[in-house]
Amino acid sequence: MTTNDTAPLYEVRNISKSYGSVVALDGVSLSVRAGEVIGLVGDNGAGKSTLVKALSGAHLPDTGDILLDGEERRWKSPHDALEAGIETLYQDSSLAPDLSVSSNVFLGREIVKPGILGKLGFLAQAKMDSEAHADLERVGIAVPASNRPVAQLSGGQRQAVAIGRAVSWARKVIILDEPTNHLGARQAKEVLEVIRAAKAKGLGVIFISHTLPHILEVTDRIVVLRLGKVVCDAPTSDFDVDTLLGTITGLIIRPPGE
Ligand SMILES: Nc1ncnc2c1ncn2[C@@H]1O[C@H](COP(=O)(O)OP(=O)(O)O)[C@@H](O)[C@H]1O
Ligand SMILES: [Mg+2]
Repeated sequence: MTTNDTAPLYEVRNISKSYGSVVALDGVSLSVRAGEVIGLVGDNGAGKSTLVKALSGAHLPDTGDILLDGEERRWKSPHDALEAGIETLYQDSSLAPDLSVSSNVFLGREIVKPGILGKLGFLAQAKMDSEAHADLERVGIAVPASNRPVAQLSGGQRQAVAIGRAVSWARKVIILDEPTNHLGARQAKEVLEVIRAAKAKGLGVIFISHTLPHILEVTDRIVVLRLGKVVCDAPTSDFDVDTLLGTITGLIIRPPGE
């Protein structure tokens, strides 16, 4: 599918962000279209997670614009971005270990029983369990039982729940900050399948990873950050592992697309 001729779904223009004297982002622009998977890569400290936080509403950038469906937005909190259909799986994101799988899937947006119980704020637990299970299955994630506490799941299963939660709720964009970290090869493949499912669903996907073969396998376009700046934004087909690595480290000075 070629997506180059459609308007951006989600876009940042010229955003900058400093932490004290550390310039984490320096005039970064990036866009994603519906049904497009962007790979965001760069060395540690390049600014990837800071960019994720700007995109997810966790940080207000110091300068620059954020546009969703061509309209300028200014997120005051991650909740604003969530409401607008943007889901984010943060690096080292944590689930609530004592809550069940389904409670984690629904965390922050629990189904409340209508009527008197609803007024008292009780949650429709059985409904949440079955819907959580269906949500996770729909995005291709098999988790044993939704009523089990997350603490009883393996690291890979927990990560699967976190990703399933994000993909099943996302209406426009999903941002995944190193979602395959700490996963085994088979589980990482499952995450790549979920990314493909999100793309097929018409979501814009921003996928961050240090595992370059994964980036090459599943993305349409790659954006390389170095020291807070975009040094390359080119179609994935322009890269192989060596040229991508060279562009990330700065050994290749004239990256693809220039
Ligand atoms: N909360 C923070 N306070 C101070 N400096 C930070 C903070 N978060 C990130 N940084 C700095 O900003 C730069 C970009 O970091 P980050 O966005 O985490 O990069 P990446 O995700 O690409 O590794 C780094 O120099 C990092 O040390
Ligand atoms: Mg990071």
